[in-house]
Amino acid sequence: MKISDKPITVKLKQLHVDVRPGISLADKTSLGIGGTTDLLVLNRFDAIPDVMRLLASEGIAHKFLGGGTNILVADGELPWVVLQLPPAQPGMQVEGNVATVAASADLGGTVTFCAKRDLGGMEGLIGVPGSIGGALRMNAGAYGTQIGSYVREVELYRAATGTNETLRGNDIRFDYRHTSFAPDDVMLRVKLELPSKPYKEIVAGIRVCNEKRRSSQPLNQKSAGCIFKNPPGGSAGRMIDELKLKGHGVGDAMVSDRHANFFVNTGSASCADMLKLIDDVRERVRTAYGIELENEVIVWRN
Ligand code: EPU
Repeated sequence: MKISDKPITVKLKQLHVDVRPGISLADKTSLGIGGTTDLLVLNRFDAIPDVMRLLASEGIAHKFLGGGTNILVADGELPWVVLQLPPAQPGMQVEGNVATVAASADLGGTVTFCAKRDLGGMEGLIGVPGSIGGALRMNAGAYGTQIGSYVREVELYRAATGTNETLRGNDIRFDYRHTSFAPDDVMLRVKLELPSKPYKEIVAGIRVCNEKRRSSQPLNQKSAGCIFKNPPGGSAGRMIDELKLKGHGVGDAMVSDRHANFFVNTGSASCADMLKLIDDVRERVRTAYGIELENEVIVWRN
């Protein structure tokens, strides 16, 4: 969607928004798939409610982009603009056992930053790509750790009230790859309360997780991590592997030959290719196991 040639840009500028015309979302996502639209960088949290009102009054559809590591974006000219928070560095402060982190901060960078201050607990999350905001929204987890366990407070923009609000950790539900945030809530900042742990011990834990990840996941290929959630008590990766689907593909979209729940873009896969592959694999798992796999990857259709 092209708004960069419209009068609204003047008002957006007054609200500290940078408009970046014609951005390719293939360049903004870890899958390397996605069409083109204008990107709006929201430089001031306190201006977000006014920006949202302005977009609504002009009938401009929008979507919020975090780190871009868990989404599959439609091809072509996209019918909505994309909103993003500016990069967070330096976006972290530590007081006692509490780290205050901006939503746009890198998750891995946050784990390391806290480790250097002898705050641990999140070692398992070290290799999970993405931003703190995205990790919060989906309760990212790996190797027995999930971010939700450490959340003391979240500052967010609530579309339902049109204001920025602060929620206490206890008032938020964090389940497996699911939270009680509304789909149109926008994460702004989080306070994480972390256990004290000597840096050396944290680094040792980080090494173990990195090694496990390197040996089982296709880290040097374009992917969105796991495509499907694991069904209760089961493993999507194991089932897809048992069906001998590693290497199975549609166009340049392929089931990784390293981990069967990672679907990789081996060249210039389109969103249509990837969706076809996802549906095909889901169908085969349904037929073989009677289990309907649910997407973990978030799909932005046009
Ligand atoms: N397996 C296979 N073949 C495969 C992949 C896995 O047989 O191709 C088997 C493994 O041998 C193991 C079992 O399936 O016995 C589980 O595999 P793994 O330990 O790799 O864990 P996972 O359930 O596939 C989950 C998360 C990952 C996270 C790892 C490590 C989900 C959907 N995935 O994978 O998270 O990194 O555990 O904790 O919950 C993500 O969410 O994007 C993600 C990568």
